[in-house]
Amino acid sequence: MTISETRPGTQRSGFHSIVEGGLDFGALPMRLFVQGNQKFWDPSQIDFSQDAEHWGLLDADQQEGVAGLAVQFLIGEEAVTEDIQPFMQAMAAEGRLEDEMYLTQFAFEEAKHVEVFRRWFDAVGAKHDLHYLLDQVDGGRTEDNFSSIFTRILPEAMGRLVDDPGPRAQIRANVVYNQFVEGTLALTGYWAWTTILDQLGGLFPGMRELVRLISRDERRHLAWGTYNIRRHVAADDAMWEVAKADLDEMMELMRVRHELEMADTSPEAEADRQRARDLGVGPEAAWEYQVDRLQRRYGAIESARGASASSIEHDLEEEDEGDAAGYASLVD
Ligand SMILES: [Fe+2]
Ligand SMILES: [Fe+2]
Repeated sequence: MTISETRPGTQRSGFHSIVEGGLDFGALPMRLFVQGNQKFWDPSQIDFSQDAEHWGLLDADQQEGVAGLAVQFLIGEEAVTEDIQPFMQAMAAEGRLEDEMYLTQFAFEEAKHVEVFRRWFDAVGAKHDLHYLLDQVDGGRTEDNFSSIFTRILPEAMGRLVDDPGPRAQIRANVVYNQFVEGTLALTGYWAWTTILDQLGGLFPGMRELVRLISRDERRHLAWGTYNIRRHVAADDAMWEVAKADLDEMMELMRVRHELEMADTSPEAEADRQRARDLGVGPEAAWEYQVDRLQRRYGAIESARGASASSIEHDLEEEDEGDAAGYASLVD
C-alpha cells in the first residue's frame, strides 16, 4: 500500500506506522527525533538569578547593547516558531511521516527558545516595550534591514508551501529558514554573543547555558534542513541549480545589508563599529564569519548531486554537517 496523501481535508488511505517495516528508525529524521527526545531540556529550569545581578552591574549603554543583541534572537525565535508550520503539511502531502514527526519536535523546540529568551528578559527586569531596540538594529532603514528578514522574506518563503508543497518551494523554504536564518544568521549571532560574553569574564551564566542548549537543538534543525534539500538534489539534479540560486540570493542580501551598514560614516556609527571591534565582533570580522558559514552550506548541498536516494536517507555524514557549520563549538 502506498500512503501518499494525508493533507487536511483529504481522506486517509492507510497507516504508515503499520506498513511492513513500520517507521524507518535508521532514516535521518527519526534519528534526529530520537536524539531530541533524549536531550530534552526545560526552559523554566535555567537559573537566571546571577544574570539579574550582573545586569544591575552594567550601565545603561551596556544594558542596551546586550538587550539589543538578545532581542534579535527573541524575535527570530518567535518568527521561526510560527513559520515552520506549513512544512509539516508539505511533508504530509508527500506521505513522509518520519519527517512530520521530527518537525513536531522542531516546532516544539522553537517554542521553547521563545520561552527561554523571554524568561531571560523578565529575569533581568526588561519588561518594557523593546521595539525601539529593533529600530536601532535596523538603522532607520525600512528595507534591506534585519527586521525584513523576519517580517517579509521568511514568512513569504514558508507561506508558499501552503499552496505549493513541491520540491522547489521546499528548497526555497529550507534555504531561507535553515541555511540562512539558522545556519548563517543565528550562528553569527551566537558567535558574537559568546565572543562578547568571553570578554565580560564570568558574566551571565544563565545566558551561556541558554546558548549551549539552543545550539544543541539548532544543530539538528540545520541537519534536517540540509538533508531535505539533499534528497531533492539527489532525486533531480536540476534541483541543485534551484538551491544554488536561492543561496546566491541570500548571499546578495547579506552583502547589501553589510554595505549599507558600512556606508553610514556618521561619527555615531563609526563609534558603534569601533566599540564592536574592541569586543572582537566588529563588522569586518562579522562579515567574514557569516560569509564563511553560508559558503559551507553550498558544499553540504552540492555533495548530494548524483547520490542514491537511500544513501541520503541514511546519511550519517549529514549530522556532522550541522556540526561543521559551527554549532559544535557552542554545544559542550
Ligand atoms: Fe530556535
Ligand atoms: Fe531552529
